[in-house]
Amino acid sequence: PFEIELADGRVLTVPADRSALSVLAEAGLDILSSCEEGTCGTCEVEIVKGEVDHRDTVLTPEEKEENCSMMVCVSRAACARLKLDL
Ligand code: FES
Repeated sequence: PFEIELADGRVLTVPADRSALSVLAEAGLDILSSCEEGTCGTCEVEIVKGEVDHRDTVLTPEEKEENCSMMVCVSRAACARLKLDL
């Protein structure tokens, strides 16, 4: 599991068996999505702080290294808490 911190200070917990996208949607964040498999790029969200375990096939290796955005349908945190621009 890992945590997501929102711009309004709310902190959400993403369990191992759920996607960040589903947890964000449940919290009322209306994030556009399509494939939900990490291939289309629709659900891209900007990262404010934290390291991401990128699991999509949209971002190039360079973009993954830059750690500026993530696909919340499949990618997860590589740290305890991610702060997202939401
Ligand atoms: Fe397609 Fe996330 S919904 S990459």
